[in-house]
Order: sequence, then C-alpha cells, then structure tokens
Amino acid sequence: MSATPRTPIPESLHDPVPMTLPRLAEKKRLGERIVMITAYDYPSAQVAQEAGVDMVLVGDSGAMTVLGYPSTVPVSTDEMLMLASAVRRGLSTPLLVGDLPFGSYEASDEQAIATAQRFVKEAGCDAVKIERGGTSAERARAIVQAGIPVMGHVGLTPQTATALGGYRAQGRTSDRALAVARDALALQEAGCFSIVFEAIPAAVAAELVTRLEIPVIGIGAGPATDGQVLVLHDLLGIYDGHAPRFAKRYADVKAQMVAGVAEYAADVRTGSFPAQEHTYSIDDQELARFRALM
Ligand code: KIV
Repeated sequence: MSATPRTPIPESLHDPVPMTLPRLAEKKRLGERIVMITAYDYPSAQVAQEAGVDMVLVGDSGAMTVLGYPSTVPVSTDEMLMLASAVRRGLSTPLLVGDLPFGSYEASDEQAIATAQRFVKEAGCDAVKIERGGTSAERARAIVQAGIPVMGHVGLTPQTATALGGYRAQGRTSDRALAVARDALALQEAGCFSIVFEAIPAAVAAELVTRLEIPVIGIGAGPATDGQVLVLHDLLGIYDGHAPRFAKRYADVKAQMVAGVAEYAADVRTGSFPAQEHTYSIDDQELARFRALM
C-alpha cells in the first residue's frame, strides 16, 4: 500500500452535513432530486463521498459486479456484511443503506430483524433495503418497529427475477401496474422511509410518485421519481456484462484499467519499469561493507 497521504476532499465537492431521514423527506417536499449510487468497497465509497451523493447503497448487485456471481441470488449475508463494512469506512456524510440478500429476511420477522441488526451493528449501515411487497411489507414493518429504517424495492426485483419472467420491465399492463402500486403503498404503510422503483414505465412511476409521501428513487423508472440510483459499475463502465437499457454510462473505466495494466505489463517485459525514480538508494560505503559481509 502507498504511504502517500490522502488528498483532502475539496469543500465544494461534498455536503458536510450528514444525510438524515428528515432531510430526505424534506428534499421530496422541496422537489430537490435525490442522488443515490451503489458502492461495494472502500475506494468506491470514497468516490461516492467525494462526488457528493446523498445516499449510498451496498446493493446485492455487488454479487455480480464485484464477486462475479451470475445473479444476486447466491450472495450470503456474511459476504454482504464484508462489502458494507468496507463502504462504511470510506463514507461519512451520505446515508448508508445495506441490501439484505435473498434468503436472509423472507422466512420470518425474527429472521428479518436479526439480519437487519447485523447490517447496523457489524457493518455500520444506517438503513437496510428489502425487495418486493407482499410478505416483504410485513418484514419491513417488523424491522422498522425494531428501530431500523427500511427502504422498499418494487417493480423488477432481481432476487425473484425468475418468478417475474426474467430481467424485464414490470407494470406494463394496467393490472400489473396496479400490483406495483399496491406493493408500494403497502411498503409505505409498513413504515418504509423510501422506496426504489426498478424498471417500470415512466408514466406509471409518475402516477405513483405524487400518491406516495415517501421519496421514490428510480432506476429505469423515468424522470418523475424523487431521485435516481445507478449501479456504480454500469455508470463508470467497469463491468462489461449485460448493461440494462436504463444504465447511462458516464465513463469507460474498465478500458482505462485494462490499458493501464497492459502498459505496466509491457514496461515490465521490456525492462523500462522500474526506472531510477522508482528505486531506493544506499550509501556507497554501506553497499561496499554489505558486499564484503556477503
Ligand atoms: O442491488 C442493487 O444495486 C439495487 C439497485 C439496482 C437499486 O438493488
């Protein structure tokens, strides 16, 4: 690890006031858009912090983006807690939300509360996120009653994508849109402080946003939601798997990383790295004495 001191965060780039649930609610009231991004480790948390986002989600998308699983389903609670703890160490002001992984909260209220408590106690999360309505609304209520803020997630819920017919937009018929609305209202009624809408028609999201009191964070839900979330690796172009239609790419970081490592490999092979400026010296007399001792 480099011993170089860390560059201080420029004042202009971050909000020095920690994000709180009342501030999020106020943002919705004032029509100020909320910015959420995923992060999975210490450097990505620092990036989110320095870029001045409002909320950071340790999404179970990390199962795919950083752990290499084929879907979000296999990731364990312990793996998610390790990612979330690293993010916590790189973050100070954004609200930190931890995604409860598939199988860690559905079975009972007790299971849901115990898992949520681990995210708060062991990883320092401010809140947790769970997917779907139905029984998930009951689990949300139980976790909220245990004193832990909960974010809901409706529409395309990747943990149960198979049951939804795959990774596809939801709420595209009046009945399916009504089902999304019922789930969202049930989660709000259960006490969720906010809710993610994933992959639903923009017009359906627009109808629901005005009917919900809590902030709605969209991903593939059009421009009317109170805020937006993107997966960091999609946004920065670090992950080259399937990129969903709604993921706007703002950088091509993977290409830059590959180019950097390829240049390093070429330098090592040709002997042009390390150069003089990368090496340490020893006093001539000390070197002579060392050689004699050898
Ligand atoms: O896991 C994740 O990254 C998410 C976002 C897409 C909302 O749930």
